[in-house]
Amino acid sequence: MELLKRLSEAVGVPGHEEGIRALVKEELEGLVDELRTDVLGNVIGLKRGKGQKRVMLAAHMDEIGFLVKHIEKEGFLRIEPLGGFDPRVLLAERVLVHTRGGDLPGVVGSKPIHILTEEERKKPVEIKELFIDLGLPAEEVKKAVRIGDSVTLQQEFTQFGEVVSGKALDDRVGLYVIIEALRRVKRHRCDVYLVATTQEEVGLRGAHVSGFGISPDIAIAVDVTLACDVPGVSEAEQITRLGQGTAIKLKDAASISNPRLVRRLVDLAEEKGIKYQLEILPRGGTDAGALQLTKEGVAAATVSVPTRNVHTVVEVAHKGDIEASIALLAAFLEVAHEGDYTL
Ligand code: CO
Ligand code: ZN
Repeated sequence: MELLKRLSEAVGVPGHEEGIRALVKEELEGLVDELRTDVLGNVIGLKRGKGQKRVMLAAHMDEIGFLVKHIEKEGFLRIEPLGGFDPRVLLAERVLVHTRGGDLPGVVGSKPIHILTEEERKKPVEIKELFIDLGLPAEEVKKAVRIGDSVTLQQEFTQFGEVVSGKALDDRVGLYVIIEALRRVKRHRCDVYLVATTQEEVGLRGAHVSGFGISPDIAIAVDVTLACDVPGVSEAEQITRLGQGTAIKLKDAASISNPRLVRRLVDLAEEKGIKYQLEILPRGGTDAGALQLTKEGVAAATVSVPTRNVHTVVEVAHKGDIEASIALLAAFLEVAHEGDYTL
């Protein structure tokens, strides 16, 4: 879990993934035969097999965050979101502003409840009302911070009970899973492309171009999915449950998984005794949505890690589900050269 901790704590908002990219490259160095970065910043590792099919495993590097869009005359920063944070979870969080001269720590400030009017108390908070307080005089803020500097939330990775928790498990846990799956696979005849994609949270953009460059026969996105197995949610609405295994996605708003590929994954899980659940996600999508539309079409699916509190800095994932996801992908890579996924 040491690697997952480093991945979770690394920084990189969409389009500005340099921090996490450096870490991913370092991790993939000795693990793949070829390593390159494309113009959108995707990191592409190739581990050669026997050239029987190209299989792409994709997980996104970017995390939701912000850009500085305005500096108030008092030195407070206004922010533009990159990806979908629920403003309710931003109140009272610690942040880092990534400037040319280094990282500046700060907090997300808001008006205290004591001075809110009755009306204001009833209204949900909006991002445009929030501001970042760097605890510095305005002149110093203006010297250090530029419009467009990126902002991430601070959070230490932790483990408790049977789970791990931290920021950006979406989708650093996916990166962890594909890296560990490649480490674990014994023999594979397919060529494996391990891709850490960029800009997923703003529209699957890195996946679009990396898929085109690789032109895989099979693409599997590895991402988190919602685990709504919490009080107040009926069983029918839970999507997935923590601890019930890796989730093989049937559909979300961006893709319908290739049914033959789903069947293959399900059969493998049963054969190997890997705990799995089937997932239907009404809203949201993964890189599979872009990858299936590459060139003349690609057999694509998503393997998900069930996660509670998605898009907060207390995302929670179960160690057993992470392990099951690694085991399933490693098993698939060994047999991925077989079979035809044309419908
Ligand atoms: Co996300
Ligand atoms: Zn994600």
